[in-house]
Amino acid sequence: MGKLAITGGTPVRNKPFAPWPVYDAREATALQAVLESRNWGGYPFPNRHGEKFARRFAKFHGAKYGLPVANGTVAITVALRAAGIEPGDEVIVPAYTWEGTVTPVLEVNAVPVFVDVDPHTYCLDTTLVERAITRRTRAILPVHLAMNFADLDAIRRLARRYALRVIEDCAHAHGGQWKGKGAGATGDLGCFSFQSSKLMTAGEGGAVITNSLELFERAQSYANCGRASVTDRFRHRLIGFNYRMTEFQAAILEVQLQRLTSQAATRRRNMDYFEDRIRGVRGIGLLKRDPRVTGVAAYQYVFKYLADDLGGIPRAAFLGALSMEGIPCDGLFYEPVYKSTLFPVRANEYPALSWRRKRPLDLRKLYRCPVAERAAYEESVWLPHHIFLGSRRDVDDIAAAVIKVCENVGELRGLRHPAITLQQVSRADRARLEKRQY
Ligand SMILES: Cc1ncc(COP(=O)(O)O)c(C=O)c1O
Repeated sequence: MGKLAITGGTPVRNKPFAPWPVYDAREATALQAVLESRNWGGYPFPNRHGEKFARRFAKFHGAKYGLPVANGTVAITVALRAAGIEPGDEVIVPAYTWEGTVTPVLEVNAVPVFVDVDPHTYCLDTTLVERAITRRTRAILPVHLAMNFADLDAIRRLARRYALRVIEDCAHAHGGQWKGKGAGATGDLGCFSFQSSKLMTAGEGGAVITNSLELFERAQSYANCGRASVTDRFRHRLIGFNYRMTEFQAAILEVQLQRLTSQAATRRRNMDYFEDRIRGVRGIGLLKRDPRVTGVAAYQYVFKYLADDLGGIPRAAFLGALSMEGIPCDGLFYEPVYKSTLFPVRANEYPALSWRRKRPLDLRKLYRCPVAERAAYEESVWLPHHIFLGSRRDVDDIAAAVIKVCENVGELRGLRHPAITLQQVSRADRARLEKRQY
């Protein structure tokens, strides 16, 4: 019997962490009020709660206009259409993100161009963006994740030089700030998700924010079946779809927004403390904190597991051991999208991949982004935000468990255990795990 829980020792933690999502009587009252109003959503759009929520949400982030939509994926689709992205246009996306950042690009029949991420932040590596720009490029779609922002200064410089739109994917960045400006308000448009794991949630939901009335009107029309926008100053007419948010979602989100600032402060405090506790631990690498990120959106806490410092024990074994210590954690949170099983893209289904090209683009074979691949398959460890919503004692447990596993990592050598989930690893690691070559 070893010291680690996975080898029969006592786990650091056997109590659950703070539950997620958080709600109280205010959500119940808001939902009941919508129910009794018999105005549950649909047309007119934006509806009463939808309009109020989106306006407040936009203002909270320093944008003039906000549009409530059904989820974060369609928020990006709407933003792309509002920004005038047309079939065949190219849109630069980070390789390391959720598939829902990229599939909307295909949905509008444009071409996603993958660029690797920065090894210090896991966000789009802006030093690589320029060489990915072609005469067909129309937009850059950075994703702010891992408590970081993509370098919006560099992105704006490039956007100005090449006349590109910037659409920020802020699905992890509610309440975050870049140089004092709210997430989503620096680019032309910002897109948010309120899916159940996010920092604010209605189970599902999304929002698009912008400072441009013209883009807002286009977004509104597009999300509302092509109907004229409420203001209709620019009189754009386009084919639209139904991407509307319901009044139930909007009513819940109005309450969730009231809680965001205090929750963010708790998470931030706890994550800073956690970071202090694990700084310098052998086997752990910290991501960089950019001082231009003046408001940290603390969605998942992400750090690096450095197998080489710990005798080559693979991340899957570390994660298995950490979860047995009672700490929820994930490694393969995202894959480089071009390699993901959720991205079986075929050129015959997305004609833009063949247009005016000698051979159709094979997005699954075209790219190799080593930083994203290393982050996804070997290095990154993602801890869910809600475990940082409790007390300092909770954080002591998380830190103690990480340190304990690192210090006793030798117990994992050659260990086979169901908690070492084989799904969490790359093909190369899987072979090593199966042969117990570690
Ligand atoms: C980075 C990123 N982009 C886009 C999305 C899409 O949001 P949704 O799940 O609400 O469609 C998500 C959410 O899962 C996300 O994490």
